[in-house]
Amino acid sequence: MTSGTITAADAGTWQLGDLTVNRMGFGTMRLTQNGAALNTVRTPYDRDRAIAVLRRAVDLGVNHIDTAAFYFSPMSSANELINRALGPYPDDLVITTKVGPGRGPSGDWLDWARPQDLRGQVEENLRQLGRDHLDVVNLRMNGPDSIADRFGALAELREEGLIRHLGLSNVGADQIAEALPIAPVVCVQNRYGIATRRADSDDVLRVCGERGIAFVPFYAIAGEGRESGAAAAAESEAVSAVARAHDASPAQVRLAWTLQRGPHVLAIPGTGNPDHLTENVAAAALRLSGDELRLLAELGRHAG
Ligand SMILES: NC(=O)c1ccc[n+]([C@@H]2O[C@H](COP(=O)([O-])OP(=O)(O)OC[C@H]3O[C@@H](n4cnc5c(N)ncnc54)[C@H](OP(=O)(O)O)[C@@H]3O)[C@@H](O)[C@H]2O)c1
Repeated sequence: MTSGTITAADAGTWQLGDLTVNRMGFGTMRLTQNGAALNTVRTPYDRDRAIAVLRRAVDLGVNHIDTAAFYFSPMSSANELINRALGPYPDDLVITTKVGPGRGPSGDWLDWARPQDLRGQVEENLRQLGRDHLDVVNLRMNGPDSIADRFGALAELREEGLIRHLGLSNVGADQIAEALPIAPVVCVQNRYGIATRRADSDDVLRVCGERGIAFVPFYAIAGEGRESGAAAAAESEAVSAVARAHDASPAQVRLAWTLQRGPHVLAIPGTGNPDHLTENVAAAALRLSGDELRLLAELGRHAG
C-alpha cells in the first residue's frame, strides 16, 4: 500500500478529554536512535533527518505525538527535536509524555520516581518542549504496585494547570480502577501487538473501551522477542500472507490490526526513517477482513 493521498485522518479520530486526535499518531522513542532501542545507538546520528521526519509526520496529518524526557541518546533528545521541528506548535497538535522512569545525564536509569519527584519530571518536560502546560501525561508503572500516591501527585499538578489530561502506562485493569476515583484517565499505553500482548492486555483494552479511555499500544510493529521460536515464525508468515493479499507491508498489517481492535485504539508507531513513516501513516486506510482479524488474533494470543 502506498501513501497517495492517505493521511493520518483516514484512521478516524478519538477524544483525549477535550482534545481531538487522529487515531494514527507517531512515537518518538526511535527518533534519537536511528531505529535502535534506548541506550543502544551505535551509528552516527542524523539530526536533520529526525527533524524532517517529525515535520513530515505533521504534514501527513499526525496530530498525536508520544514522547518522554528519558528518550535521548548522547547527541539528541526527543523533546528537544519536537520543540525544534514543530515549534511554534500547531493548535491541533497533542503531545503526550510519560513520567515515572528517569535517566541521569549519562543515560543510566535512575530509581523509579517517588511521588515527590514527579513535579520535577513534569517541569523537565515543560522546559524541553517549551510549553507552559503538558497536553497529556502518562504515569508509567513498573509492576502491579498501587498507583494511588503517584497518580495523586500528578492529579495535583493537573489541578495547578501544569497538565491538561492524565493517562497510565504499563498497567492492569486493577490499577485503572484505582486511578479513576482520583482523576479522569484519558489513555492507557501498554505493550500490545499481534504477538506482543501481556496476558491481561485484551482485558485492559476492553475495559478502556467500556470507559471511553483510549488504548494506545506500543511495540505494535517491533514486538519483543518475536524473532525466535516456531510460534513466532508461524505468526510472522501469517502476517506476511495477509500483507501480500492487500499489497501492504507486514508493518502496515500490524498497525491496521491494532487499530481494528476498537475505535478507541490509537497507533503511535516509532521510526526515524522517512519511508517507514509514510508507509506507517498509509496504514490508516488499511482495513483487514473479519477472517483476517480473527486469524491474527488467534495466532498471537497471549504470546507476550
Ligand atoms: N509507555 C511505554 O512504556 C513505551 C515503551 C516503548 C515505547 N513507547 C512509545 O511507543 C512508540 C512505539 O514503540 P516503538 O517505537 O518502540 O516500536 P514500534 O513502533 O512497534 O516499532 C519501531 C521499530 O520498528 C521499525 N519500523 C517502524 N516502522 C517500520 C516499517 N514501516 N517497516 C519496517 N520497520 C519499521 C523502527 O525502525 P526504523 O526507525 O528503522 O523505522 C523501529 O526499530 C515509541 O516510539 C514510544 O513513543 C512507550
